[in-house]
Amino acid sequence: MRPKSSGYYDLASRAFHWITAVAVTAAFILGPGGFGRLMRNGVDPATHSDIVWHESLGLLVFALTVLRLLWVALRPAVPQFSMAPWMRLASKGTHLALWALMLALPVTAIVALGSEGHPLTLLGGIRIDQMPLIAESPIAGLADWGDVHGLLGDAIMWIAGLHAAAAIFHHVLLRDGVLAAMLPFLRRR
Ligand code: HEM
Ligand code: HEM
Repeated sequence: MRPKSSGYYDLASRAFHWITAVAVTAAFILGPGGFGRLMRNGVDPATHSDIVWHESLGLLVFALTVLRLLWVALRPAVPQFSMAPWMRLASKGTHLALWALMLALPVTAIVALGSEGHPLTLLGGIRIDQMPLIAESPIAGLADWGDVHGLLGDAIMWIAGLHAAAAIFHHVLLRDGVLAAMLPFLRRR
């Protein structure tokens, strides 16, 4: 049985949360608009630092999310707060959507690059020029994966914004410990 919660998320859960939040936001800000035009003009994406950083941060989000999900299965009990059933449901639904998007964003990006024959270009000069397994799979033709990826990128920022607003609402108006559970320095004396 897991020990009773201290009222705070454990240090690893907090580190995963805030590093991921910063990486998702930075990846969004660097989202490469006009990528298709650059590719049609024969530009090498490795020469555009916004693209290289965007792809590297996005893959970092994927790696952190996989490790974080493993940690969720092993970690100590997380804090529980009493709240109305609709609020609990909304919170669970928002978390589920965020988890799904943190995995779906990198996956759709890789499928987009692979199916259109564009290179994956990462920091440190790492690159994969062709992904034949994806290009030749039936998934490649199912959608314009670049468009799907961009839409999901917008969606995660809207949902994360709602989630952040809810956390601030809990702290300022409901005055419970929900935000402090992720940011212990906010603890009320
Ligand atoms: C948290 C992760 C990510 C977020 C929030 C995100 C967000 C976005 C957004 C909003 C766009 C559209 C930009 C615009 O049209 O102005 C975009 C485009 C793009 N992203 Fe990401 N992205 C993420 C991860 C990745 C990863 C891991 C890769 C590569 C492996 C990647 C590669 C691309 C590419 C190539 C485009 C251009 C797509 C096209 O127009 O065909 N992204 N991303
Ligand atoms: C892209 C940005 C963000 C993403 C993807 C995200 C994602 C998540 C996820 C998946 C959880 C569940 C964590 C777990 O069980 O370990 C969570 C919890 C939490 N997040 Fe975020 N978050 C983001 C930004 C923010 C921001 C900006 C705030 C505060 C202003 C915030 C406040 C919280 C709080 C207080 C919790 C724990 C309380 C709860 O159960 O809702 N998050 N977040």
